[in-house]
Amino acid sequence: MTSARDTYEAFKARGLKLNMQRGQPSDADFDLSNGLLSILTDRDYRTPGGLDLRNYPGGVAGIPEARALFGRYLDLPPAQVIVWNNASLELQGHVLTWALLKGLPRSNGPWAAQRPKIIVTVPGYDRHFLLLETLGFELVTVPMQPDGPDLDAIERIAAEDASVKGVLFVPTYSNPGGETLSPDKAARLARLEAAAPDFTIFADDAYRVHHLFDDERDTAVNLVALCAAAGHPDRCFVFASTSKITFAGAGLGFLGSSEANVKALSAWLNAQSIGPNKIEQYRHVRFLEAYPGGLEGLMRDHARLIAPKFQAVYDTLERELGGSGLARWTTPRGGYFISLDTTLPVADRVVRLAEEAGVSLTPAGATYPGGRDPNNSNIRIAPTRPPLEEVGVAMQVVAACIRLASEEYRARQD
Ligand SMILES: Cc1ncc(COP(=O)(O)O)c(C=O)c1O
Repeated sequence: MTSARDTYEAFKARGLKLNMQRGQPSDADFDLSNGLLSILTDRDYRTPGGLDLRNYPGGVAGIPEARALFGRYLDLPPAQVIVWNNASLELQGHVLTWALLKGLPRSNGPWAAQRPKIIVTVPGYDRHFLLLETLGFELVTVPMQPDGPDLDAIERIAAEDASVKGVLFVPTYSNPGGETLSPDKAARLARLEAAAPDFTIFADDAYRVHHLFDDERDTAVNLVALCAAAGHPDRCFVFASTSKITFAGAGLGFLGSSEANVKALSAWLNAQSIGPNKIEQYRHVRFLEAYPGGLEGLMRDHARLIAPKFQAVYDTLERELGGSGLARWTTPRGGYFISLDTTLPVADRVVRLAEEAGVSLTPAGATYPGGRDPNNSNIRIAPTRPPLEEVGVAMQVVAACIRLASEEYRARQD
């Protein structure tokens, strides 16, 4: 029988150069939206509502057509939506900075004066950790579970400590595990009894409509509406963007919350900007409305490109490692990532071995605050960017690295 070392060396000898670390759309995904680049002509500078896109007026919350379109996306009326510029992370930063410097409308003063803590889920998204840590928040981690964050832990932590100001997580097809918040957990979050009167849910719904399959889909919850129904109308901000719909970093970020929060946040944004880029907003509206089947049709076309790549990861891992006891992995029905855990504490060694064999993976530890995975087991797999034919090969290499790293680890223990 071929040894784990021989299998690994054989892959290494192939001189591969494969990249499974970037959570980016492929060029074929981008090509679906190339029509955005030419949808407006030199006569399209006025909206049907009569707004001249070339000039300042229009307000800070976005043009009405975009608020209506992305309101439908978030399942909220336009008055509860702000459509901003190109990045949802920037909007998250605006809301958090606002809370730190002024406090939210329900707060008793600026959060910055209260040594604020935010709950995050692990494994999670490194840019959430970077944003929160850069702004000075202390992070409290809770495990992500198949039906959303560990609510028992959140309820306990939020009830015990008034400096815990909220939770930031991905409610639909999470990064990196693809988990979706269940209706039961959503309702518990909405009615949660927190020590902080201004406890806030920051829901980064980046993958709300990013289903992989037509017949098997997770259902996104409406956290803003659930909070209102539970008597906490101002508790939730939900964020999203078109970065994984049209162009990454060159689309639109938007948010939904209560009407009162939207008004108050608009005043904060208005001090910093006369308004967002209305031309980008209008061409997104025109493009997404003209696309066959609308936004839903575009997402189906993305799924046709992306689902086979996820399937290749599932099939290869099952074939190479199924029943071995060496690793387990999630099999999401949407989103952009798969979360893989080695059974032994060898994630950093696996990532290094893979790199040496020409397969680039997200750095081990990246899914934990400070880049430190206490179990040294989690690896984020990002299958969307490479061509389909490379995904299976890359995962074979990952499987070979897990076998070898596990064998080395066991040999050290003996
Ligand atoms: C959960 C999550 N939120 C936000 C982003 C980035 O979004 P944007 O480009 O809108 O800032 C990503 C990108 O990978 C993501 O995975």
